[in-house]
Amino acid sequence: MKLAVAGGTGTVGMHVVEVARERGHEVVVLSRSAGVDLVTGSGLSDALSGVDAVVDVASTQTISAKESTAFFAAVTRNLLTEESAAGVGHHLALSIVGVDAAPHGYYAGKVKQESLVRAGAVPWTILRATQFHEFAAQIRSQTSFGPLTIIPRMVSQPIAAREVAERLVDLAEGPPAGRVADLGGPREERMAEMVRGYARAIGARGLVLEVPIPGAYGRAMRDGTLVITNDSDHGSQTFDQWSAAQAR
Ligand SMILES: NC(=O)c1ccc[n+]([C@@H]2O[C@H](COP(=O)([O-])OP(=O)(O)OC[C@H]3O[C@@H](n4cnc5c(N)ncnc54)[C@H](OP(=O)(O)O)[C@@H]3O)[C@@H](O)[C@H]2O)c1
Repeated sequence: MKLAVAGGTGTVGMHVVEVARERGHEVVVLSRSAGVDLVTGSGLSDALSGVDAVVDVASTQTISAKESTAFFAAVTRNLLTEESAAGVGHHLALSIVGVDAAPHGYYAGKVKQESLVRAGAVPWTILRATQFHEFAAQIRSQTSFGPLTIIPRMVSQPIAAREVAERLVDLAEGPPAGRVADLGGPREERMAEMVRGYARAIGARGLVLEVPIPGAYGRAMRDGTLVITNDSDHGSQTFDQWSAAQAR
């Protein structure tokens, strides 16, 4: 089949493209570096010609609810409009476990994205996943000040982005399924321990301080809102196994 991957150059998007190609699918990447701007819609209609399913893993880096909502609303509306025009039969969106229960600025955009997909004319599937193992490296790079890294007290159940990509391609190969079972990693981890483990694995030195974040979002990070429930599906690669593989 022919798949379009919105955000196919990103952390999980690269894996979606790789997995889909390994399985023999034709893949079109929708990203600015591939000549498609999903916010303005430029280049989108041509890129969707003959596409059977779109996997949306585009993202923006912001903690502002206004910016996040504007980004995900524009991207989702443009995708759904052009998918309808091109006769695309399946729209898949990747969301985040606990997104509607934790008041974070970025999550406001994800909630908007989910609501537009549900109300849209294109048959859809929404998969919610927990933080990727790769999140430890992302957050470390954003909160390091010289040798000091400050990490929020957070319980997560991280999963390898590659395993999320495999699930997304499985879902793209099937019919639109609505909201499917959440996907998380094999076990719960503390984010500060993940960051320490990642630093050890890549040979980085320095002090990692764990601090509780005040307010409702800080509580949600600590109290298990962002981890999966018993009804969810589990990936198999642990954070330690993933870190060791990165170090190699
Ligand atoms: N990171 C996590 O731990 C995590 C966990 C669960 C779910 N998710 C969800 O997974 C999705 C992907 O996250 P990620 O961390 O893999 O994202 P990412 O690494 O930040 O990648 C973002 C992608 O979006 C593309 N993009 C950004 N602005 C664009 C625009 N205006 N037009 C076209 N493409 C644009 C980027 O490509 P260009 O720069 O080339 O345009 C890139 O391919 C998001 O929806 C996120 O909410 C993430």
